[in-house]
Amino acid sequence: MSLRVTAVDLADDPECGEATAIMRLAGRTDTPDLPVLSQRRYLSRLRNPQVGERRLGFLARADGVAVGTGLLVLPDERNRDTAMIEVHVLPEHRRRGAGRALHEHLTGIVRGEGRTTVLATTSESLPGGPARPGHGSAFAEALGYRRASTAHGQALDLDDVPVERLLSQATPHTAGYSPVLWTGEVPEADVEDIAYLNGRLLLDAPTGELELEAEKPDPSVIRAYERGYRDKGGTLFHAAMRDDATGRLVAWTMIEQLDEPVSWGWQQITLVDPAHRGHRLGMAVKIHNHLQVRAKAPELRHLHTWNSAANTHMMAINAALGFRPAGATIDWQRRF
Ligand SMILES: CC(C)(COP(=O)(O)OP(=O)(O)OC[C@H]1O[C@@H](n2cnc3c(N)ncnc32)[C@H](O)[C@@H]1OP(=O)(O)O)[C@@H](O)C(=O)NCCC(=O)NCCS
Repeated sequence: MSLRVTAVDLADDPECGEATAIMRLAGRTDTPDLPVLSQRRYLSRLRNPQVGERRLGFLARADGVAVGTGLLVLPDERNRDTAMIEVHVLPEHRRRGAGRALHEHLTGIVRGEGRTTVLATTSESLPGGPARPGHGSAFAEALGYRRASTAHGQALDLDDVPVERLLSQATPHTAGYSPVLWTGEVPEADVEDIAYLNGRLLLDAPTGELELEAEKPDPSVIRAYERGYRDKGGTLFHAAMRDDATGRLVAWTMIEQLDEPVSWGWQQITLVDPAHRGHRLGMAVKIHNHLQVRAKAPELRHLHTWNSAANTHMMAINAALGFRPAGATIDWQRRF
């Protein structure tokens, strides 16, 4: 069997289609409890780098047939010594060396750029959660990566959330703060506050042993994310809490409704400014967003979220909402 790895021309639709079709089929096997994401969404991941990074795509062909794909993310502003690697191989072609060949090709480029740290992410089962085969973790271990952090995936059926009870429990503690709701883009008047909260994420949310620099508060980061998001389809539902005294947004959360299937969404970032913690704003802001989603997108029924296992506070909020264990997402790190 001849195995060849080549770069994907990201402007070439058929080649990108081959790469994203492999990602979709691999995803169905590796995270069977999650929906298969749309081709459009995968394409957007390939083609839309975030601010200050490059993305390179690759295909592995066995006897001319595309059996695996790789994505290399190269940050050029912060974390310039680091690269993120993704490798996906079609389930029926695994354990024949395609994964290793892609990995060697990608890490060759990483070394050529003088970078010394490679990060990769895999999925595994969690106790009490649905079965996941965990092939990626076995692969990462075999290739000398070490576990840097574990995020606990959790799943929720929106109908099961006791919104009224949770809101009435939180409200007595949130005097002096007012909920603000919107869908889509962050209003211009609030984008600096949101950029500040977004920039705190890496500082505040435990990331285990991952060595990454914090993001600087920068509205252009938010706008670039939104531009990328428009390309993916889907809808962003935001809720924030405004400090009535200063007019600033001090708590923020976001739910991302998938373009396909629309019954699924990701519970994304939730963050409370440290100076405003202790007022149940984390719970309040999430509940307000659930109320917004119920009103505007009743077809959205299932949420999935990820939290560092070390983030006991957010895990407690999620447990109160009714989230149950799904799979684990492991971040791996290797120095070259
Ligand atoms: C991880 C993945 C890319 C491996 O692809 P692959 O083509 O099967 O990998 P290889 O055949 O090159 O395997 C290389 C070595 O990894 C280890 N390995 C890979 N899969 C394994 C598994 N399921 N169980 C145990 N060891 C495994 C073995 O040591 C293997 O060498 P060997 O077959 O000679 O024993 C593939 O399973 C996949 O697409 N998983 C989902 C995505 C993912 O998690 N990617 C990894 C993070 S970037």
